[in-house]
Amino acid sequence: MLELVEIIINDDHQVLASIVVDSIEAMVRQKPDSVLGVATGSTPIPIYQELARRVQAGLDLSRIRIFGLDEYVSLDETNEQSYAYFIRENIIEPCKINPANVRLLSGVAEDLRAEAASFEAAIKAAGGVDLQILGVGHNGHIAFNEPTSSLASRTRRITLTEKTIEANSRFYPSIEDVPHQAITQGIGTILEARHLVMLAYGEEKAYAVKEMIEGPVAAMMPASALQLHSHVSVLVDEGAASTLQKADYYKYEWDSKTEKVLD
Ligand code: GLP
Repeated sequence: MLELVEIIINDDHQVLASIVVDSIEAMVRQKPDSVLGVATGSTPIPIYQELARRVQAGLDLSRIRIFGLDEYVSLDETNEQSYAYFIRENIIEPCKINPANVRLLSGVAEDLRAEAASFEAAIKAAGGVDLQILGVGHNGHIAFNEPTSSLASRTRRITLTEKTIEANSRFYPSIEDVPHQAITQGIGTILEARHLVMLAYGEEKAYAVKEMIEGPVAAMMPASALQLHSHVSVLVDEGAASTLQKADYYKYEWDSKTEKVLD
């Protein structure tokens, strides 16, 4: 079971997905109307597949409530690149979630400020998010909170960095088609979830993972805000963990008699 703050390194993404789904299952058995925060991107897909398998095997998710993290401005739910489309295809339908229990951010709302405020109010009314799944961008963004986002930020419209546009262009016919703006939960909003579950795979995430865990807490590295939370599970593969200095964490022993580090 995922408890308190921990980092789990395993090269089998299926194993990591099962660990997360065990936690979700235990939570739902205890509280059938749990509030689950879902992330998009390729990293969490094995989690949703495993969750769908368990639903096929009898797990009942009909009462859980779902909140999205972010959405591109200007894409509606019928657009295959929208996060609403991804969430419906990968989570809502295969996991048999009641669409009435799902609140996603709309990128086509006429008034995005009002949309952000009503989204925040909906999370509050639901009693807060119980478990939030998160991924991380190469530059350390979480949801679409780009570097320099305030660590206390709330749900709002944001302009994406070149790096993010480039990274996400792999899903589009050309880079010109990637929207330049998004609406995203703020870092402050995300930190209010009771349990954060962060996943990162591959060497291309190693920089963000290292800074997130071992770097200073800084607005330039939004994922580092996770250091401020008391219940975080970070699940990474060897590639993403490859630049962590973890080997040094417990290398030295302190001799209280001499008040020196033992060799
Ligand atoms: C996007 C999303 C993030 C996601 C990130 C990583 O930018 N806004 O929420 O975590 O991509 O995606 P992937 O898991 O595909 O690397």
